[in-house]
Amino acid sequence: METLTLTRPDDWHLHLRDGTALQAVLPHTARQFARAIVMPNLKPPVTTVADAAAYRDRIVAALPAGSDFTPLMTLYLTDATSPDEVRRAKDSGFVHAVKLYPAGATTNSAAGVTDLRHCWPTLETMQAIGLPLLIHGEVTDPAVDLFDRERVFIDEQLIPLRAAFPALRVVFEHITTREAADYVTDCDGAGTTRAPTIAATITAHHLLYSRNALFAGGLRPHWYCLPVLKRETHRLALVEAATSGRSCFFLGTDSAPHARRLKESACCGAGAFTAFHAIELYAEAFERAGRLDRLEAFASFFGADFYGLERNRATITIERAAWTIPHELPFGDDRLVPLDAGGVLQWKLAA
Ligand code: DOR
Ligand code: ZN
Repeated sequence: METLTLTRPDDWHLHLRDGTALQAVLPHTARQFARAIVMPNLKPPVTTVADAAAYRDRIVAALPAGSDFTPLMTLYLTDATSPDEVRRAKDSGFVHAVKLYPAGATTNSAAGVTDLRHCWPTLETMQAIGLPLLIHGEVTDPAVDLFDRERVFIDEQLIPLRAAFPALRVVFEHITTREAADYVTDCDGAGTTRAPTIAATITAHHLLYSRNALFAGGLRPHWYCLPVLKRETHRLALVEAATSGRSCFFLGTDSAPHARRLKESACCGAGAFTAFHAIELYAEAFERAGRLDRLEAFASFFGADFYGLERNRATITIERAAWTIPHELPFGDDRLVPLDAGGVLQWKLAA
């Protein structure tokens, strides 16, 4: 059988939730990944180092016996996050970044930032101490077309922010457009000796699907996430970026579980659940691009390098073996539908 052995990957953007949802989804991630950057958009959000410590304890307690998975914690930036709090975060050793949600941009972002100017002293401190800012890069102005919100964010928010804080380390999360891929490529300091100040995560779903998937034969809520899937030209640009071998692009699933009952409703929340089959989805995308040879660096090297962490030493193996994605998975009192349920994948993680 054809197999591919990779350094064990990390997921640099993950929603684990809490309580019974956490218990249901965490084993899927821990089976594949050594570490994950855990998003702080709980209700209420993880805004302090004390919250992050308590959340980390709950994650570790929910791990399957014998798992050595390490959660890498983040803080949720608000208008009121103080410079002292980010200093404490850096000193903690277990908080690795601070996440910017523009208020109202996505799921559980109501407590997010209403105006970046409120955060100026805190961002200055993060720049000085080298704590990365993770950005949900979409404007929230309802007058801006939903499909343009990332592109407009680059011009209106990201470029001015990076001009004001040129040494601030930024991860532009789950990019979805050619403009974002081009922006990050252009800013990347590859070939220079300075540490890079910008990188981007790319999800498996944005590599595999265009917005047509949202409307294939009807309206498909399980494909609805934010930033929303874009046109095919953007998907192609993301595939090019992910498979380029550039170290400024790395794996972040943005796996975001929502209960089946809430997804399949008149107003469904944004989020695609991909933690169950993450590495297999990425393998599919890289193979279709003829670049399976570049999967390992994207999945297992570049993120660790950007965050200044050691690369993993253990390995995982995937095998070429067609299998069908299950229609649903247990999820506390409800059920969870993995992305592309019923679809067939060509690679499978070896047991
Ligand atoms: O699709 C998304 N789901 N995008 C986000 O930014 C948040 C996430 C969630 O928490 O469900
Ligand atoms: Zn996310």
